[in-house]
Amino acid sequence: MTVSLWAATTATPDWPRLDRDLAVDVAIVGAGIAGLTCAYLLQQAGKTVAVLDRRDVASGMSSRTTAMLTQICDAPLSKLVKDFDAEVAKTAWEAGKTAIDFIEQVVAREGIACDFRRVPAYHYASTVEAVSFVREEVRLALSLGYPAAFTDALPYPQASFGALILPEQGQFHPRRYLLALAERLRARGVAIFPHTDVSRVRAGEPCRLETPGGTVTAERVVYTTHHPLDNNLLVSKVAAYQTYVIALKVAPGTFSQALAWDTEDPYHYWRQAPQDGYDLVLIGGEDHRTGQEAEPERRFERLEAYAREALGDRSYELMYRWSGQILDPADGLPFIGRNGAAKNEFVATGFAGNGMTFGTYAGMRLTDLILEREVPAANIFNPDRFGLKAGAVTFLSENLAYPTHLVERLKPEPQPDLAALSPGDGQIFEQDGQKVAVARDATGALHACSAVCTHLGCVVHWNSLEATWDCPCHGSRFAVSGEVLDGPARHALAPVSLKVPEERG
Ligand code: FES
Repeated sequence: MTVSLWAATTATPDWPRLDRDLAVDVAIVGAGIAGLTCAYLLQQAGKTVAVLDRRDVASGMSSRTTAMLTQICDAPLSKLVKDFDAEVAKTAWEAGKTAIDFIEQVVAREGIACDFRRVPAYHYASTVEAVSFVREEVRLALSLGYPAAFTDALPYPQASFGALILPEQGQFHPRRYLLALAERLRARGVAIFPHTDVSRVRAGEPCRLETPGGTVTAERVVYTTHHPLDNNLLVSKVAAYQTYVIALKVAPGTFSQALAWDTEDPYHYWRQAPQDGYDLVLIGGEDHRTGQEAEPERRFERLEAYAREALGDRSYELMYRWSGQILDPADGLPFIGRNGAAKNEFVATGFAGNGMTFGTYAGMRLTDLILEREVPAANIFNPDRFGLKAGAVTFLSENLAYPTHLVERLKPEPQPDLAALSPGDGQIFEQDGQKVAVARDATGALHACSAVCTHLGCVVHWNSLEATWDCPCHGSRFAVSGEVLDGPARHALAPVSLKVPEERG
């Protein structure tokens, strides 16, 4: 399993799980950036709040991001203007600006040492053909009132034919920010319980959240779980992708501090993280749909080859590498608002490559909705919004049809070769007509569980890089033992008793 720069340079607090019943105004499921931002603002507004997470605080995708803070959305302005209109495009960019400003204010107000800094962002043309696209993005940004420009001077040594530059974007250490925020919240009475799995939410007034250690009753429930839970319509509107990041040690000052990404699909992205005595250059990309890469190591090989070529004869050292999951929304905009027909439930998901920015914005807007304040952009980010354009409709139909397609295609080995299974390897086979996922963990112990995803029944695939079982349909991920790591699945893969010899040869 890979470890991100952010996880490697912070300690995880040893906070207890929930072991009693609890009553609060608002229960937040998911202790990442959206959930903790929402908790911070609700606590300031005088609400009692509980934050529950099935894992540690800030240990999900908030720990596997590159933490680039930018108002430039994954969906280009030209697409947003064409698919919606200029007002929607401006609202999306304004959301990002609002979020970056908020993080800067919280960092200053709370005195959080998290390496926050303002940096410019570059969206650069990696081909001659892409120059006209980038120039159009500059024109649209200017027409919306943003100080964008076209430049030939780039901070990083990629092949480029010019770029959009936008000043006053940002970057930070996400776990230093979030863990400090969580500590302050606990000191102010917010109940934060890691390792507390919400197995069921009973709607009502109040709602009842069932966990193994106790029941939380709450007037409002917020799902900030990265992937939505118990809302399959919303699940069908996002597509899960794995992305890969490497961190290279270079001499300090080798490059100027900036965010950058290119026009390729999938795109490469760059930022830096200054350390004591050296700089780390973070380079990411090589995205693919979750559960659809048999050899994820090759993604890192390609990323390293790309970095090697870009850096030329500059000396560097590979320090960290990790993967993360991105949820791309069908029409390019995140989903932030009420959770379907549930009267007292709220949800946020589909932040694409802008997880830290839109996660923060989601926490702010969900707070407004809970406090029944006016939210000007509520319809734009409404999870139930209508009027999807042709591309988004195609996206939806593909996503809905995919499970059947995948299950039909899958051809597992009829006989397992457990003796040949090395630590870190996984294999799928059939036993008594059931698809079984079997893998050896790093210690050599064998684990066997059902290979059928507990969300909607697709067959999981082994991810040899992270030692996880990944579902190619909607992105659920499971530990080698079957425990849920990422939703939308709620329940672990069922354990299976093997009827074939487990001994190694
Ligand atoms: Fe939906 Fe697995 S995540 S079937």
